[in-house]
Amino acid sequence: MKRTHRIIVALDHPTGEEALALVSRLEPHACAFKVGKELFTREGPPIVRALVARGQPVFLDLKYHDIPNTVAAACQAAAALGVWMINVHVSGGPEMLRAARASLEGWQPRPLLIGVTVLTSLSGADLAAVGIPDSPAGQVLRLTRLAHQCGLDGVVCSPQEIAAVKQACGADWLTVTPGIRSAEASLDDQQRVATPAAAVHAGGDYLVIGRPITRASDPARALAAITAEIASAEG
Ligand code: C5P
Repeated sequence: MKRTHRIIVALDHPTGEEALALVSRLEPHACAFKVGKELFTREGPPIVRALVARGQPVFLDLKYHDIPNTVAAACQAAAALGVWMINVHVSGGPEMLRAARASLEGWQPRPLLIGVTVLTSLSGADLAAVGIPDSPAGQVLRLTRLAHQCGLDGVVCSPQEIAAVKQACGADWLTVTPGIRSAEASLDDQQRVATPAAAVHAGGDYLVIGRPITRASDPARALAAITAEIASAEG
């Protein structure tokens, strides 16, 4: 599958000014940008509008999880900002997922709706502590199938789960994977990682990459190197 911007750069910056400075350095390259809870809580919708106005695809990573009516309204508000991708917690249940999906009908272009399965920070013991007697991998697949049945476009998962997710839901079902590290890179606090090439070989669609690009001495060069690694993995 060829995509024009497979890399989503995580703008995990404390201020909008710093985030936009990085975007300016990366702009000549094709990538998308992720605005998460920290940046959005500090800067609000104006940072999203600024990115959209620059023609950048924006993944608004706010992981909605609430009653169906509230999540549907939040999804509409995100769509009105002009973002390209949004996400919800699949554990919010089928009614919430269907309401989220229905709320996006009619938006042109419609934002992609991605489900968060099991956060990669959670272990089997953590799941047991909240009453889920399954392994993270088993729970990821259960939630992936539910998201698929409810009309979502794909899931966030670890790169090591891409193959199982694709097997369960088909090659066109999207995967969005953080935990991407080149072979020689620092793992930072990530545990279940894969290289960009391995993620692409496994069938991964969108790769969320933060520190290997944002903290590089030359972010544009780091992005170009990863883009080249992905292009050669695609053959
Ligand atoms: O710096 P790094 O490449 O580790 O950044 C990964 C990005 O993906 C961060 O914005 C992080 O919040 C996000 N993320 C993650 N693991 C998840 C979900 C999101 O690392 N399970």
